[in-house]
Parts: sequence; C-alpha cells; structure tokens
Amino acid sequence: MSEPVLSLHNICKSFGGIRAVRDVSFEVEKGEVLGLIGPNGSGKSTLFNCVLGQLKPDYGEVYVNGQSVTGMRAASLNKLGVGRTFQQLSVFPQMTVLDNIILAGQEHKGTMATRLFGPPDAGLTQAADQMIEFFRLEHLRDEMAGALSYGQQKLVDAAMAFMAGPSLVLLDEPAGGVNLTMLSNLKERLTTYNRTHNTTFVVIEHNMEFVMSLCTRIIVLAEGEIIAEGNPDEIRSNQKVIDAYLGG
Ligand SMILES: Nc1ncnc2c1ncn2[C@@H]1O[C@H](COP(=O)(O)OP(=O)(O)OP(=O)(O)O)[C@@H](O)[C@H]1O
Ligand SMILES: [Mg+2]
Repeated sequence: MSEPVLSLHNICKSFGGIRAVRDVSFEVEKGEVLGLIGPNGSGKSTLFNCVLGQLKPDYGEVYVNGQSVTGMRAASLNKLGVGRTFQQLSVFPQMTVLDNIILAGQEHKGTMATRLFGPPDAGLTQAADQMIEFFRLEHLRDEMAGALSYGQQKLVDAAMAFMAGPSLVLLDEPAGGVNLTMLSNLKERLTTYNRTHNTTFVVIEHNMEFVMSLCTRIIVLAEGEIIAEGNPDEIRSNQKVIDAYLGG
C-alpha cells in the first residue's frame, strides 16, 4: 500500500490544565475525504493547529507523505502541498476577491501555481482567475471581500487554500453559517476537486448532512480522544457517538 498522505502519531496538546488533544493517532490515505467531528471543545481545531504549525504538540509526531513535519511552520507546509482553511474567516475585507486570492498565492510562491503559470505576478493573476472560475465566483471577482455574504466569503476562503495546488487540504468548518445553495455548491466543488486532482481532504464540520454525504470515512473526537471511526453509516448508528454528540 502507498504511504499515507497524513499520519498522526500520539498527538497530545494541553492548555494549562485542559487536555485538549489526548494521544490521537490516525492515518489518511491519498485521495481520501475524511471527516473529523465531535462536540464543541473536543479538540478538533487544536488538532488541526498541531498539524499545521500554528501550535506545537506537547507530544507526538506528524508526517506528511512519510516526512516528519512536526512543529514545521505553515509556510513550509504550504510548500509541501498542504493547505488549510480556518474556522474564523481569514479574508481581508478591504481587498477585492481577486486580490485576496492572489495574496494567498503569493504566500505559496515557488509552488505549483507559479511554476505552472510563468512569471510570478502575471502567473498568479491567471491562477487566481482559474480558481475564481472553479469556485464560480466570477461575478464577485472585483468586489471587496467584506461586501460579500458570509457564505460567499467562505468560498473565497476555500479558493485561497487551493492556490498552493495542494495535495492535502484541511478545512475547519467550511460549511459553518453557509446557506443551503452555497452549501451544495461548496460540496460539489470539493467533490469535483477531489475527483479531478485526487486531492486529500480532512474536513471538520458540525453540519452532519454535509459531512455524511461528502466524507468516505469519519473520525469522532470527544474530550480530546478518538471515540469512533468508520463510514457514515457506522458512525450514525454508533451508540458512543450518539451519546457523546449526535444525540444532543
Ligand atoms: N489557545 C488556547 N488557549 C487555551 N485553551 C484553548 C486554546 N485553544 C483551545 N483551547 C481549549 O481546548 C479545548 C479544545 O478546543 P478546540 O477549539 O480544539 O475545540 P473544537 O473541537 O474545535 O470545538 P468547536 O467545535 O467549538 O470549534 C477547549 O476546551 C478550548 O477551550
Ligand atoms: Mg473548532
């Protein structure tokens, strides 16, 4: 079997007395769409932050394509083809949609986007326009990002994460606060990107319909620990998951 794209070994992270992530280990295979769910405060975002260099785990190792990246900064991870979206929106409201996406691309200079499309700036505009088209944001290209609806900003956020030409993307609540139309658009775009690029996704989400229809496998965290893992049907009917999360 090929090397997992992402491999977590015994990740632990505490904040003072709060053990936010407790000995979490799992692997994600290439092309997989993995859901990470669990109650508020169960350690999902903390785990992402440990993977992506925003936080240093107290213990444990993170591997991307077999290479240890533990404690590596986000910019270096971008260069290895790892992208992310944040739970909180990270668009600049006073910049246009296009400029936000170009800026995200500049952070990944020297990666796929620039290598594919020639000189840095012209190349980035072209790459950003392709991303805008892919996420069907053409009509909003020159609008200030801050003037967009919340859902539209979430799509811009996703487009920004894809500017590195990533092989792995971690999405923290991409569907939070997004309306139904936008939600099906987002799901369809992620599925299409996954199928055409074989890009691997790990998705944190509270919207169960979204997770269950998007993901092939789901891991459930509660109080910082993995309490279940399985396909959507297995997770839906898992009594531990119902008690800790779904039943509430
Ligand atoms: N920077 C921090 N400093 C102190 N405590 C933190 C910090 N970040 C997270 N925590 C705590 O760690 C625990 C896990 O939080 P985390 O944000 O990872 O949960 P989550 O599963 O992402 O929740 P949600 O679904 O609400 O986003 C919580 O008890 C939270 O209060
Ligand atoms: Mg969170």
